[in-house]
Amino acid sequence: MSIASIGYLRIAATDTAAWMTFGTEVLGLMDARREDVAGAHFLRMDDHPFRFMLEPAETDGLLAAGLECRDRSVWLDLCERLRNAGHELEDGDAAAAARRCVTAFVTLQDPCGNTLELYYGRRLDYAPLISPTGIKRFITGDEYTGDMGFGHAVLPTPDMDTAATFYTELLGLGVSDELYPPMPPGAPETKILFMHADNPRQHSLALYNHPYPGDVVHIMVEVSSLDEVGRALDRAKAAGHTILASLGRHVNDNMCSFYVLAPGGVAVEYGYDGLLVDWDNYTPTVSTEGDHWGHEYNFPG
Ligand SMILES: [Fe+2]
Repeated sequence: MSIASIGYLRIAATDTAAWMTFGTEVLGLMDARREDVAGAHFLRMDDHPFRFMLEPAETDGLLAAGLECRDRSVWLDLCERLRNAGHELEDGDAAAAARRCVTAFVTLQDPCGNTLELYYGRRLDYAPLISPTGIKRFITGDEYTGDMGFGHAVLPTPDMDTAATFYTELLGLGVSDELYPPMPPGAPETKILFMHADNPRQHSLALYNHPYPGDVVHIMVEVSSLDEVGRALDRAKAAGHTILASLGRHVNDNMCSFYVLAPGGVAVEYGYDGLLVDWDNYTPTVSTEGDHWGHEYNFPG
């Protein structure tokens, strides 16, 4: 499997200060206290120099998802496979790689226009996480699971079949689950394809078969206890953020979570208890319900 994890996100923000306040005071992420020449700010979850890069922009949304390859040879093989299949890859220069704290990366678009950055050789600075809200740890991997990435992201891919072929057959992600959630009468069919990388997290990336504002359906971060989820929900409500979905538990990855809108509208799922899977003994499933309980949605407008 070529992709080890989803390592970082680049997020466009019309108000980076508001996003940083939300990231630190509500989500409990740590301000990496680094501002680059382009005015980006960085949030960290663990001993990686950052997991979210917040970049000043005219509109809010996802700029790029960083997908990690385990080493240079895996990365080179993947780049060659993509180029042979007709995809255009743009090499990142040294300054851009340094900004991302990686050894090298390429940028490409998936078939639906989502921007991906494929990289290897991520630098660690070994500084401990000091969460401003006292989060003990974000679940990003340990000595038993290896690095599991920052969490997961769901991307809009209106041409689901073409996108699914790209992600599974070219990038080599594995299918975890297909979800066909119950919809109101007359609503178009909704499908979400959940895919895993080479780590035990039940899904690292998922595809949604419709367009979505901000070019991302949601992103997910995971903590280690229900109490930390509950306290984050309290903080989000107290700060006046829109709660997009109440507390609930998903059927496929077992995540017990709520959803909150970040400043600018990107939805953030905040959960705990996500399923870890032994992929050698797993058969992909098809779900017709999204949740065991809860997750009552409240879409603004
Ligand atoms: Fe999710």
